[in-house]
Amino acid sequence: MELKIIKSNELKKKPEGALGFGKYFSDHMFVMDYQDGKWQNARIEKYGPLLMDPSMCTFHYAQETFEGLKAYKAVDGRTLLFRPNKNFARLNKSNERLCIPTFDEDFVLYALKELVKIDRDWIPTEPNTSLYIRPFCIATDETVGAHTSHNYKFIIILSPVGTYYKEGLNPVKIMVETNYVRAVKGGVGFAKTGGNYASSLRAQEDAAAKGYSQVLWLDGVERKYVEEVGTMNVMFKINGEVITPSLEGSILAGVTRDSIIHVLKDMGVKVTERKISIDEVYEAYLNGTLEEAFGTGTAAVISPIGVLGWKDKVMTINNGETGPLSKKLYETLTGIQKGEIEDKFNWTVDVDK
Ligand code: COI
Repeated sequence: MELKIIKSNELKKKPEGALGFGKYFSDHMFVMDYQDGKWQNARIEKYGPLLMDPSMCTFHYAQETFEGLKAYKAVDGRTLLFRPNKNFARLNKSNERLCIPTFDEDFVLYALKELVKIDRDWIPTEPNTSLYIRPFCIATDETVGAHTSHNYKFIIILSPVGTYYKEGLNPVKIMVETNYVRAVKGGVGFAKTGGNYASSLRAQEDAAAKGYSQVLWLDGVERKYVEEVGTMNVMFKINGEVITPSLEGSILAGVTRDSIIHVLKDMGVKVTERKISIDEVYEAYLNGTLEEAFGTGTAAVISPIGVLGWKDKVMTINNGETGPLSKKLYETLTGIQKGEIEDKFNWTVDVDK
């Protein structure tokens, strides 16, 4: 497919000061339409609003999927993407689940590289910043009939970002959710789709009212096994071993989760993917073997958990401070992403190659 490039002749002023997360957007976006049974009309054009009919079915039935990945300006000047193939493969998996047509991953990667090249001045270079990339697919049929759409848009937008949490890299307070559930096996928990996030907001608001940043979800059936945190996978270091919930269909197969598992193995740290109950975490806390807990995610990277609230219990982990392993993992991963540390896993992709 041909990629049309229509450059904007009105470039925006870049943001100054703290970026926060997801508040600013670059000059261009990638758009491709699905109509008459195929993806077509791929173009890079000026970033701007879309004209949508109020009946557009994504508004009503949430047939949509999305991804999150990042671009970095490397120390040697290269512009690097981090494992984009994993994100596009996962987006296609989400698309299959949501009945959205899959796309050619190589073509979309090529288009993303072109987009990032055009807007590369938007990649921030301050410490702990990056260019967040948000690809997403929306169903665009104009109907309030609840059925699979025949028309879609695939869009990629770019946002210069700082840290996801206001705490930055400092530990966050997480509340174990005992009232609501996020997903069940057979549902859409493994897919990156807006509905998973919409249904988490009530719990997140309730947790925020109690002074917590986010919730830790338990499984939807027994309400016993740890699943994931609102926007991150979760890992516990217990007695020298890192344990993370296994992928059994209801949690997201995080790219950062996978990367951290590889980095841990490479560091010689034992890492196990298995079911872990909240009782086991509490038991480890009581007997002093819960050494660290942290979330992993593209937006958050590594987010140490300083406090875990569960019913009337409050577990303060590692004195509420960032643990040495969390710090090392953050430095290693961001070091690879920014080309400061040798990329022995071959994860980074140079947009100019
Ligand atoms: C990401 O980590 O990229 C995510 O998609 C989480 C998002 C809700 C900010």
